Amino acid sequence: MDHISLYERIGGDTTLRALTDRFYDLVFEHEQISHLFKNNKEEIKEKQRLFLTQFLGGPQLYSDIHGHPMMRARHMPHAITEEDAVAWLRCMAEAIGELPLSEPLKEELFSRFPKTAFFMVNKNS
Ligand code: HEM
Repeated sequence: MDHISLYERIGGDTTLRALTDRFYDLVFEHEQISHLFKNNKEEIKEKQRLFLTQFLGGPQLYSDIHGHPMMRARHMPHAITEEDAVAWLRCMAEAIGELPLSEPLKEELFSRFPKTAFFMVNKNS
């Protein structure tokens, strides 16, 4: 059923709220990447929820409020190494692992992140 977005199949907004909540709790505690996050945790959770909504095929919430995502450009002020991307992905894998979804759906959801995460790398280790 390819016409149903991944956003809808994972349970839409309820799931993304649970995911972003848990994910940033892990990120803000992670020894490798917590230092990169200097702004308010609730604000970044909210921005990520809006972004992931559209990234996974739901309504264009992020663009409506913040304009074109330009994610790599928005990450340029932060020095992100390959190790940072790996740590980010580990937090995402852990947060997805705790969602009440089937294993295949969890795998499908996680598979959407590695390419984008490594695309954000902008500093040599
Ligand atoms: C590769 C590892 C990554 C690191 C270390 C990282 C780090 C950061 C940092 C430091 C910020 C700024 C937070 C703040 O305002 O304090 C940020 C913002 C953001 N990141 Fe990432 N990020 C990574 C990957 C990703 C990926 C893969 C996505 C999307 C799938 C993403 C989506 C976002 C969004 C939506 C914002 C908010 C942008 C805005 O200001 O509107 N990030 N990230």
